Amino acid sequence: SVPIILDCDPGHDDAVAILLAAGDPAVDLLAITTVAGNQVLEKTTLNARRVCTAAGIADVPIAAGCARPLVGRLHIADDVHGESGLDGPDFGEPTVGTVPGHAVDLMYRILARHPEPVTLVPTGPLTNIALLLTRHPDAAAHIREIVLMGGSTERGNRTPAAEFNIYVDPEAADIVFRSGLPVTMCGLNVTHQALVTPEVLARLEGLGTDLGRVCAELMTFFATTYQRLWGLPAPPLHDPVAVARVIDPTMVDCADASVAVELRGEFTRGATVVDLHRYLDRPVNARVAVRLDQERFWDRVIGAVDALGRR
Ligand code: BDR
Ligand code: CA
Repeated sequence: SVPIILDCDPGHDDAVAILLAAGDPAVDLLAITTVAGNQVLEKTTLNARRVCTAAGIADVPIAAGCARPLVGRLHIADDVHGESGLDGPDFGEPTVGTVPGHAVDLMYRILARHPEPVTLVPTGPLTNIALLLTRHPDAAAHIREIVLMGGSTERGNRTPAAEFNIYVDPEAADIVFRSGLPVTMCGLNVTHQALVTPEVLARLEGLGTDLGRVCAELMTFFATTYQRLWGLPAPPLHDPVAVARVIDPTMVDCADASVAVELRGEFTRGATVVDLHRYLDRPVNARVAVRLDQERFWDRVIGAVDALGRR
């Protein structure tokens, strides 16, 4: 199975990304690292511990990373994910802890020691990843690829032009897209194909496990948010799409393109400029996800929640 590190900011969809990464046998989850994004770092880290506790994931190290973006102040998404960053279920006090030290140090240690190159799966702002690449240039040789959730081939969800993860730390995203490493971008254009429909919700409830119920409660809160803020009847489950791409690349079709991060635009800071049609004479630096096999995606997600819930 493919060794991965999940770098996240849970977050309702990050929570499901953790479950998919821990519960699917095609990936080997080496660590969970946290970053400030959907909520402040203390809360996203607590939420990672909550999710692992609820799912009985006790053997995966969790380390906290950057508390603010490389430049400027932190923008959080409490309007989407609530005061806790993971509103909905009643989580008790988590029994799963964190390991000491910074997330970037844990990533670097794992990369140096693991016998084969490791895939990084960032599902939050790219601050930790950018710091890893700039502080430890030799880490690149140990990274197989970076498969991230962020950006969009079209419009944004935080500003008209920018998707949240890129908007929060555009300088970090710029470093990642210009790193020369293989980068796969799973943006809003593809994650909006992963809608938590009433049928999906019913399947989670139908698992009959505590974890299935927790997931259903998370998704119910998430659905309320998307209904209220965007008038969408079913919320897009962004982050697990990046994990799914690693689990089975044929689940998520990609196109090669040049991707640039807008750093200075008056109204477009944090936008990903994706040149799918090759208008610009710029080299290809990313694979851009364009199509999701929805049926297989939901089978894998629900399968992972089912497997973890029965352990
Ligand atoms: C991204 O922003 C966050 O709110 C979600 O967790 C996801 O990673 C979607 O734009
Ligand atoms: Ca996220």
